[in-house]
Amino acid sequence: MIITSITPELGAEISDIDLRQPLELDVIEAIQAAFNRYHVLVFREQTLTRDQHKVFARHFGPIHIHPSKKQLNTRDDPEIFLIDIKPDAQQSNGETWHADITCEATPPYASMLYLTQLPENGGGDTLFANMQAAYAELSRELQAYLRTKRALHDGEIDLARYGIRLKNGQTYPANSHPVVIAHPKTGEATLYVNEGFTSHLLDVPRFESDLILSGLFKRIETNPRHQCRIRWTPNMITLWDNYSVQHQAIFDYAGYSRYGERITIESEGAPQAFALAAVGG
Ligand code: SIN
Repeated sequence: MIITSITPELGAEISDIDLRQPLELDVIEAIQAAFNRYHVLVFREQTLTRDQHKVFARHFGPIHIHPSKKQLNTRDDPEIFLIDIKPDAQQSNGETWHADITCEATPPYASMLYLTQLPENGGGDTLFANMQAAYAELSRELQAYLRTKRALHDGEIDLARYGIRLKNGQTYPANSHPVVIAHPKTGEATLYVNEGFTSHLLDVPRFESDLILSGLFKRIETNPRHQCRIRWTPNMITLWDNYSVQHQAIFDYAGYSRYGERITIESEGAPQAFALAAVGG
């Protein structure tokens, strides 16, 4: 197995590995260590069945079920979230910067997307941004302020982007989380607000919340120092950490198809506030 970083801060390609084969414990541990370090891992030229995809995903935790499968009565495989963009689509899934489903009480730790069909015009890349670097570059004063805050993450904001409105009796998750969390695997301080799901900071005037969140989102989304861009090739898996990165699917392929299957992986617990004392600072 060879690990090649994509940028100094974010992303690595893992080559010389066949994910159809059972993985030895030391290989799984090396992948987990690379995941903690690089947050986004790319595995090219993998030809997997859906079951093999699930077996690989389970090395990182139990499979999480998307709330649309639980609450909106879809009949598909509950463990698979389809990314199935047709040529007549006007938008793709995930065009607004986000981490996956942060509206849940315990949002998924990681996501693993296996793309088998790519747009023939060469589009459909995915951008990622490192939320530990985004926190680290803030002033101590702003870091301290944000560590005292919680924010509401509301799934209906995301549904509305796709023109979906809840019918009578349907519910969809909305939960608050600390604005700065301790990463569940490494304890690193991580900024945990995203444009896709975060509605507002709790216990501050709404105009003030809007000022702070829009400023943070603008910085996250426009600062290439903390980003990497993943260029897909057919039969490629990208694994990303929803607790340390945000992502944006780029829809620059109207008139073409893009197909893949995403599995999300459960977190061991709800996001926990980062406490400075816990790391002796
Ligand atoms: C997503 O938001 O999970 C989709 C990412 C992608 O399609 O590249």
